[in-house]
Amino acid sequence: MLKIDTTNKSEIALAKKYCRFILTDEPATHHRFIEKEDGTVIYRMGIGKGSKVTVRSFRLIVRSIIQAAKSHKVEALALDFYALDFPALATYGEKWRASTVVENLLLADYEFTTYKTKKPDKKNLKEVLIYNLNSQEAKEGIKRGLIVGDYINQARTIANTPGCDLSPTDLGNAAKKLTAKTKISLQVLGEKEIKKLKMGALLAVGQGTKSETRFIIAEYWGAGKGSGKKVSTEQKPIVLIGKGITYDTGGLNVKPAGFMHEMHMDMSGGSAVLAAITIVARLGLKKNVVALVPTAENAISDTAMRAGDIVTAMNGKTVEVLHTDAEGRMVLADALTYSARYEPKVIIDVATLTGAALVALGQQASAVLTKHDDLAAKLVTLGETSGDLVWPLPLWDEYKASLKSHRADISNIATNFSRFGGSIEGGTFLSFFAPKNVPWAHLDIAPRMDSIPADKLAKGSTGEPVRLLVSFVEQA
Ligand code: BES
Ligand code: MN
Ligand code: ZN
Repeated sequence: MLKIDTTNKSEIALAKKYCRFILTDEPATHHRFIEKEDGTVIYRMGIGKGSKVTVRSFRLIVRSIIQAAKSHKVEALALDFYALDFPALATYGEKWRASTVVENLLLADYEFTTYKTKKPDKKNLKEVLIYNLNSQEAKEGIKRGLIVGDYINQARTIANTPGCDLSPTDLGNAAKKLTAKTKISLQVLGEKEIKKLKMGALLAVGQGTKSETRFIIAEYWGAGKGSGKKVSTEQKPIVLIGKGITYDTGGLNVKPAGFMHEMHMDMSGGSAVLAAITIVARLGLKKNVVALVPTAENAISDTAMRAGDIVTAMNGKTVEVLHTDAEGRMVLADALTYSARYEPKVIIDVATLTGAALVALGQQASAVLTKHDDLAAKLVTLGETSGDLVWPLPLWDEYKASLKSHRADISNIATNFSRFGGSIEGGTFLSFFAPKNVPWAHLDIAPRMDSIPADKLAKGSTGEPVRLLVSFVEQA
């Protein structure tokens, strides 16, 4: 991991080895090294007018510092915390600013090299020193940013791991490793226990492979568990549910070439909620959080679920599997049913659920679907401040009719096979399983599963929406 340190010293007091990155109001194309007489090196990096910097562009500026340092083989760089301030950021405070800087330094530095046999170049970026950093608030932000950035990168590594090396069992083990040495209690249920719980929808998705299905339960009781009638409102947990399909072939309704090879990341929702709860525990937040990850491989074999099969979900509802590639909603259905036992304060599920979400939003934002307007508004706002952008799609009752099955209680896709409004269809299916009277939001993160060049991140997993989930818990 990139080493990030801070000092309250000013520039003159810094060791010579640090290349001083100075942000200037020259155009963003203007990058230039200057060597001073005493041997210190300055890197002048144009970012345009400071008055034009926004919350959004700020994160990208921080990331481009790392990109520039890497492309010029800078090994140690120094950043002026004073200079990383802009009028548009004033309302967010120093803790937010320091955390955002560190998060984005770490996210931009991350590369997925597990499967590269060539040793990395010795001359690479090793150290960032943030100077002119004095306030207690800023120091707290740095601490937060280090934890957040580190665990998001771990989540990205889990998501980037190919399907051959990450089965549901492996995901369970990864969860153990991630949450080790925290106050999280972790349980990984095996198929026997899942059967006992009658999670028929989850089991159906995983029945086509020897890789056994798992159900991961992580609990963090930072606000105390309480017992019986003594459970206060604050002690009702926030339940986070993450889709954990370790590989999605589509099943017997197999995906075409070009649409399957990235489906090892179909557990990104799962790794995101596991990272989020781990961060919450590491930060020692006095909040109660539960993370649930139904995890299975959607494979093809003679034992795989067939199109037309009817299965019974944990809540007793029968589901007609009209399309084996609509598997995410099935595993989430049983997790939503299971979540009711916690009497949650709020439920957020996170899933790479539909390609249709990319049709609707492109690759810039995840979709949020909820009947609770205040929850939607909160998530949109926190998306802006955290960097994990989300945008609403409707979850109206009018959409329910399309899922009315002729042979069972509900079908897993529209009975007329319409492809219109696919993300809403997915969210609507889930709404039949979400516990009644609990505010619930569904995040379709398919658009943000894979990074795009504009992100200034390594190709592959973005680690979203971990930052959003953590800020949601912080403010809850
Ligand atoms: N995991 C996919 C959705 C997906 C697609 C995520 C592209 C990320 C990028 C999901 O399980 C799926 O296959 N959805 C189907 C639903 C359809 C059969 C109703 C889809 O989007 O085509
Ligand atoms: Mn699928
Ligand atoms: Zn899927």
